[in-house]
Amino acid sequence: MNLKGIKLTWLGHATFRIETPGGKTVIIDPWVVGNPMCPQNEKDVKTVDVLLCTHAHGDHIGDAVEIAKQHNPVVVAIYELGLWLERKTGKQVSGMGKGGTQTVGDLKVTMVHADHSCGIEDGGQVIYGGEACGYVIEFSNGIKMYHAGDTAVFGDMRIIGDLYAPSIAMLPIGGHYTMGPREAAYACKLLRPKAVIPMHFGTFPVLTGKPSELKKLAKGVEVVEMKPGQTIG
Ligand code: NI
Ligand code: MN
Repeated sequence: MNLKGIKLTWLGHATFRIETPGGKTVIIDPWVVGNPMCPQNEKDVKTVDVLLCTHAHGDHIGDAVEIAKQHNPVVVAIYELGLWLERKTGKQVSGMGKGGTQTVGDLKVTMVHADHSCGIEDGGQVIYGGEACGYVIEFSNGIKMYHAGDTAVFGDMRIIGDLYAPSIAMLPIGGHYTMGPREAAYACKLLRPKAVIPMHFGTFPVLTGKPSELKKLAKGVEVVEMKPGQTIG
């Protein structure tokens, strides 16, 4: 896949590292240390300029606080999760809301809906973390990617397709906590990307959805099955 200067690396589960055409490093959903799918040599994050958090569950922001403290990236999250991250890190977080777009480094980041929960587990309690979201990222070379976060399929994915037309979609397919292959195939009909990268499967035994099932069901879209640690572009 020609990503025109973008390098996209899957670190397993919902965690991706993206090197932008402008030389910035973006991490989406920073969960590496406890992530059983993350390769050993990727567990120590070396550099990050932008951290995008889709929601507050531990398998998405498990290492956000440590990484933010260590590397001082611009952290993007929904407003309430952003407040919590500010308290924990002592750093400023660029909180935002669904439907909004902000420029971060050489990226335009749009926060979009996700149909999922967002409670923060903190000290044996669950506290309000705002809502789960996804992101559409527009790079300086014009390429647009959509990371759905954890979500069910929902009808307004059609609006994401209409308004932003991402050519690449990272979609969860594991089932149980998110959509599975059948729902993800339907999501492809609404989003109309050129390529879909399956994620959020196989990490735990309950995440049973497989890329091969999505390949059978999704028509007119290339299913790009990545291996953890693999880089494309
Ligand atoms: Ni979740
Ligand atoms: Mn999850």
